[in-house]
Amino acid sequence: MKGVVLAGGLGSRMYPLTKVTNKHLLPIYNKPMIYYPIRTLVDAGIDEILIVTGGNSAGDFLRLLGNGKEFGLRHINYTYQEGEGGIAAALSLAEYFADNDKIVVILGDNIIEGNIRGAVASFRAQKEGARILLKEVSDPQRFGVPVFEEEKIVRIDEKPLTPASSYAVIGIYMYDHRVFDFIKTLKPSERGELEITDVNNFYIREGKIAWDLLEGWWTDAGTFDSLLYAGGMVAKTGANKLSAED
Ligand code: DAU
Repeated sequence: MKGVVLAGGLGSRMYPLTKVTNKHLLPIYNKPMIYYPIRTLVDAGIDEILIVTGGNSAGDFLRLLGNGKEFGLRHINYTYQEGEGGIAAALSLAEYFADNDKIVVILGDNIIEGNIRGAVASFRAQKEGARILLKEVSDPQRFGVPVFEEEKIVRIDEKPLTPASSYAVIGIYMYDHRVFDFIKTLKPSERGELEITDVNNFYIREGKIAWDLLEGWWTDAGTFDSLLYAGGMVAKTGANKLSAED
């Protein structure tokens, strides 16, 4: 299975930190932000990785990561997203790389304490469809929020004013090859972006989405507050820790 790290967009929420550099190169405690999602994929046994970058300082990713030797990789693939057309627009650039394989997608600003080995193993065994990860949070209105009928997710609402549950859909998504066909049918949302939540809702309508609860803490690092929080959590407990049975 292949992995895609989405590190495009312009990081406009974090101006002026992102005036001369890319959000995903900012420090989270003792490492650049992009190290954490790459580590998450590598720890799950994924060694074919595409980084979708964009905005400022795209060349710095190459200088920082090279061919990924620090992560035990022999090679990293790179591509460039113009503007900030949304997460699904960034993902559409991975179609050629995916080459009809299943993929694990991670947002470049998502940091986890543990690992996703179990979910990735389940997705390997899943014949088709998608798999998402959920985490209970105190501020679901900032995220994609699943709407449940018993154990079943019937819809995901993107940043709802009145969340239907206290769960967030975190920025780690697993898809079969049909994801690229779904993306081609998307229309920009009110914020002018192709939304990953709309992609997930396609799979939900087809009854082909599975989900797991993520263990350990999770945070994005895409706002001043969450960047500070992420740094504090990494300093305190460490990120990408392997559980005892690994
Ligand atoms: O963090 C999880 C949340 O991420 C989900 O719960 C939401 O459903 C999902 O829409 C997303 O919400 P955000 O509004 O926080 O996403 P944001 O625009 O901050 O983008 C997150 C990452 O996605 C960013 O660090 C890089 C990548 N991205 C984003 C955009 C808009 C791109 O590669 N290209 C883009 O054009």
